[in-house]
Amino acid sequence: MRTTDPRALDSADPLARFRDRFVPTEPGLVYLDGNSLGRPPKSAIDRVAAITETWSRRLIRGWEDGWLELPLIVGDQLAAGVLGAEPGTVAVTDSTTVNLYRVAVAALDTRTERRTVVVERSEFPTDRYIVEGLARERDLDIRWLHGDPVEGLTSDDINSCFDDDTALLILSAVNYRSAATVDIGAVTDAARAAGALVLWDLSHAAGSIPVNLTSNGVDLAVGCTYKYLNGGPGAPAFLYVRPELQDQLRPPVQGWFAQAQQFEMGPRFQRRAGIGGWLVGTPGIIALTAAQAGIEVVAEAGIDAIRAKGIALTEFAIALLDEWLAPLGCSLGAPRDPARRGAHISIRHPDARRLTRELIDRLVIPDYRAPDSIRVGLSPLSTSFEDVHRGLTTLRELLGGSG
Ligand SMILES: Cc1ncc(COP(=O)(O)O)c(C=O)c1O
Repeated sequence: MRTTDPRALDSADPLARFRDRFVPTEPGLVYLDGNSLGRPPKSAIDRVAAITETWSRRLIRGWEDGWLELPLIVGDQLAAGVLGAEPGTVAVTDSTTVNLYRVAVAALDTRTERRTVVVERSEFPTDRYIVEGLARERDLDIRWLHGDPVEGLTSDDINSCFDDDTALLILSAVNYRSAATVDIGAVTDAARAAGALVLWDLSHAAGSIPVNLTSNGVDLAVGCTYKYLNGGPGAPAFLYVRPELQDQLRPPVQGWFAQAQQFEMGPRFQRRAGIGGWLVGTPGIIALTAAQAGIEVVAEAGIDAIRAKGIALTEFAIALLDEWLAPLGCSLGAPRDPARRGAHISIRHPDARRLTRELIDRLVIPDYRAPDSIRVGLSPLSTSFEDVHRGLTTLRELLGGSG
């Protein structure tokens, strides 16, 4: 694809109508960071207003109107509409970091005879920090995977990490910097064959690529709702536990929202069956309501159409990068094969930090990822081809190129 007219691409885009579902940006702004913080859906604003009104009117009685089960109701919507998972497998609760820790502890408790936990060197920091903390607490060995910084992990890299000492692999389905993906089903099968578990971090995958948790046989996963799911800053995260494991694994935090007869205030903890047994404490209903609105928009558009648009947007950005920016010192920091790439790309340049700042000064908003990447998020429901064209035109101008 070479310098195709972005307006022609936008008019042929079957998801173009979804851009109106988001609160408009300030005039002239090009937002290329929906993979860090998604834009607000208009419905989220309305729903937050409505839930606030309910709070004012119903007060404590709101808990009897469905608030108590909201983490699981929204979990079912996310499971069916986005994650390819069965009802009763997802809870929307707490933060990704806290969920990672809780699920990892429960997983490791089922493999105490094994001493190795695996994580990639270029994994998102919170995942690495959690692994380091767990290794210290439990005297485990860490096996570091060294995937290619652009192309990511090969199946050989991954297969070689499993042996009879491997308890758990924590891995992002889409790498936060390079957008490199892995084959979720193949990794899950390899782990299972070796008697290990995989805990997937779906933060950059949920709402950008199909993850098909049930058909891929996934055991455990967590992820954010504030990125491609447009749930709002700090929106509650999700956790997925395969039905067979939900009662077998023991979450380490025994909070009262996981108690079978919660309001009997009983003397002893008795965990409720199913995914509800993975809840902890009082959910943030206002934030959860905003997240629900974001999830509904994604589910309505459909993950296959979203994936197709994510590929088209990233292909368009890469074509412009090759034509305009590569001669000016930039290189692609994401896989060229669209099947191996999520919905963002990294543009590498030695002055990436300064360039990102200058882009933001000119109302083009990507983000900088140390040491040399301008990360360009192409959120399929809210980003247009015109946005990509305008954003990369500005970068070309900053680099001294001309149209
Ligand atoms: C892969 C990945 N995991 C986890 C997180 C963050 O988790 P939390 O919501 O707990 O800050 C992010 C945030 O950008 C992320 O990219």
